[in-house]
Amino acid sequence: MSHNTIALNKQRQPLNHLDSVWLFGYGSLIYKTDFAYLDAKPACIYGWQRRFWQGSHDHRGTPEAPGRVLTLVETPGARCAGMAYQVTPDTFEHLDHREKNGYLRVFTPLHWLPSSDNSESGNSGHDETEGVVYLASADNEAYLGPASDAEIAAHIAKSRGPSGPNSEYLLKLAQALRDMNEHDEHVFAIERQLLLLMP
Ligand code: SIN
Repeated sequence: MSHNTIALNKQRQPLNHLDSVWLFGYGSLIYKTDFAYLDAKPACIYGWQRRFWQGSHDHRGTPEAPGRVLTLVETPGARCAGMAYQVTPDTFEHLDHREKNGYLRVFTPLHWLPSSDNSESGNSGHDETEGVVYLASADNEAYLGPASDAEIAAHIAKSRGPSGPNSEYLLKLAQALRDMNEHDEHVFAIERQLLLLMP
């Protein structure tokens, strides 16, 4: 599969017939909201875990020297917490462009987490809804796959792209997860290794 997924996402999953869509963010979409939204709530998905296994040609690296960013890997029993945003379908013009480097949109069940605004289930009494998530699977051309925490940290430490240093992607994500009281050992272990390499 080509690493540019803009046309594929439009063709596979038209959304214009819907009034609004919940988008689930687990990576940069947690801390970088460069789009308008109607509502935002912490949420989680089950059966998936975050992994720094996707190459970034357009944000945190270049085609010649890709950075390492997150994708989700299907893992029975796993839980991945993030932020859900209620957006209008036209927002996907921007989001598909932002996530074009190998990510395909899929619908998945979202479960609300308690938040300060929203101490109960979070969605008018319902504790789950369907939402869209961007996934970069192993068959996209930008996929890098597994490596040790130390190798991933070293790769992140030396990478940079049009959106800035790859290290910023990791450090901002780790901070955003701490702010949500969420522990993700994959993210935090790579962050620890990265901090050892930083001046
Ligand atoms: C996401 O944040 O949900 C997708 C991956 C990324 O843009 O970091």
